[in-house]
Amino acid sequence: TRTAVVIPAAGRGVRLGPGAPKALRALNGTPMLIHAARAMAASRAVSLVVVVAPPDGAGEVKSLLDAHALPERTDFLVVPGGETRQESVKLGLDALPSDCGIVLVHDAARPLVPVDTVDAVIEAVREGAAAVVPALPLADTVKEVEPAAVPGEPEPVVATPERRRLRAVQTPQGFDRATLLRAHETVTDDVTDDASMVEQLGLPVVVVPGHEEAFKVTRPLDLVLAEAVLARRRL
Ligand code: C5P
Repeated sequence: TRTAVVIPAAGRGVRLGPGAPKALRALNGTPMLIHAARAMAASRAVSLVVVVAPPDGAGEVKSLLDAHALPERTDFLVVPGGETRQESVKLGLDALPSDCGIVLVHDAARPLVPVDTVDAVIEAVREGAAAVVPALPLADTVKEVEPAAVPGEPEPVVATPERRRLRAVQTPQGFDRATLLRAHETVTDDVTDDASMVEQLGLPVVVVPGHEEAFKVTRPLDLVLAEAVLARRRL
């Protein structure tokens, strides 16, 4: 069976500050989305990359991918995205050919994930897991709070989950394709990652080791870190 990757890249990236859609911002002169697509195509197991573009930017994204060649073994498709990340992922899934039995979902906002992490996720799906997430232990202790009604007001702490049992999850997340499709057809709640939809079906989701360099570029400081990682790789 073939492995495809869906890259949702239709977000505006408001937290990064004003400018182009986040996926199209440059890291060392190359759009983040191109770094992310190359990171996926670096795995020999990946035969198709589906990029979900901003609804009004599909043409631009197609030209970018044409201009920055992926390896010859990797096909790509561009489809327009939706209002939410979840809708964007679903639109990407709908574009997959039927011979793709394994699908990865990878944020354009994680442009620097190493190929070993991608391969580890694919391997775990091949070995039979319905859903696989790369994840890391947390450095910070996490508190659950009662969110303030008025922004800036002190927020009461509700609980402190045991840090040892918590993981920060990254992408690519890997799935048996039929399972992820069923999750999208069944779960209507807002979610912040794809695997949680599979959890809601009552199916097991497993964790494999993530990587520090798979961090999400969200805020301005993350751009500085991403460019430093790229500079170090060139050494
Ligand atoms: O907003 P967040 O950082 O969680 O977005 C994660 C990924 O989802 C980004 O790559 C973003 O481009 C994508 N996204 C999307 N469609 C949306 C919103 C976000 O493809 N409507």
